[in-house]
Amino acid sequence: MANQALSGKTALVTGASSGLGVDFARELASLGCAQLVLVARREELLKKLQAELEQRGVKVSIVTLDLAAAGAPQALHDLLRQQGLAVDVLVNNAGFGLFGKELEIPWDRTQQMLQLNMLALTQLSKLFARDMLKRGFGYIMQIASTGAYQPTPTYAAYAATKAYVLSYGEALNFELRGTGVSCTVISPGVTATEFLRVSGQKATWYQRMTSMSSAEVARAGVRKMLARRGSAVIGWINWLAAFSVRFTPRAAAAATGYQLMKND
Ligand SMILES: NC(=O)c1ccc[n+]([C@@H]2O[C@H](COP(=O)([O-])OP(=O)(O)OC[C@H]3O[C@@H](n4cnc5c(N)ncnc54)[C@H](OP(=O)(O)O)[C@@H]3O)[C@@H](O)[C@H]2O)c1
Repeated sequence: MANQALSGKTALVTGASSGLGVDFARELASLGCAQLVLVARREELLKKLQAELEQRGVKVSIVTLDLAAAGAPQALHDLLRQQGLAVDVLVNNAGFGLFGKELEIPWDRTQQMLQLNMLALTQLSKLFARDMLKRGFGYIMQIASTGAYQPTPTYAAYAATKAYVLSYGEALNFELRGTGVSCTVISPGVTATEFLRVSGQKATWYQRMTSMSSAEVARAGVRKMLARRGSAVIGWINWLAAFSVRFTPRAAAAATGYQLMKND
């Protein structure tokens, strides 16, 4: 059913070729967005989603872009401006993790991850939030992770990028109060997407037990965004896990994170 706040609006979803990004796009389309801009590197998958959503009467443009490349966020912003598109909803979803012992992960892969998960997300937030501010309306959604809440050996740098996203997004949301623009950080736990294949991890018993579908995470996430929540952990087990960290010494939280994530 259409949502009044989103009706006729334009949404930009990064990382819309698989997993959560696909379901964020579907959810925004079903809530009444009139136009979607889908960004990722795999063009065929973007075209498939474009065809699906256009059948539902939504205008969809796709941008095939490596957001970790130098200058990519600025190029995307320039392109949409040339096309006369005003983005009302920005879903900063593109991101990936790298599983393994930190010192065994090659620097170039780590650098790409830091670039995408933090720098591209930050630059996109600045560029599009400034435009939203001028119009006095907008929603930004940042995708963090339950990994943001504690140090996570085997995902050391990835979890640290998500701690950045959580802290950055919550602070930005505070600065935006009263402007008509909000920034919601959602923290999903394990979600059935291509994430583990890309990160190189086999699902652990904990991940199999707590895994959520990307459709349910997207639905809950968009609801939090529309409520203009600053931050939300998705799923009650994930919420409990993140909440319990507050009462756990940091060294013990790191050890628990390792036990839950390690592949033997
Ligand atoms: N799945 C989980 O368990 C989980 C849990 C917590 C948080 N998250 C977060 O959720 C977000 C979405 O991940 P997902 O789980 O849906 O994984 P996914 O299925 O692997 O999707 C990742 C998306 O990011 C895009 N992407 C990756 N590198 C890119 C680049 N350089 N430039 C542009 N797009 C790029 C991918 O598209 P292309 O490959 O086509 O470029 C894909 O569309 C990520 O930020 C992830 O950290 C996931």
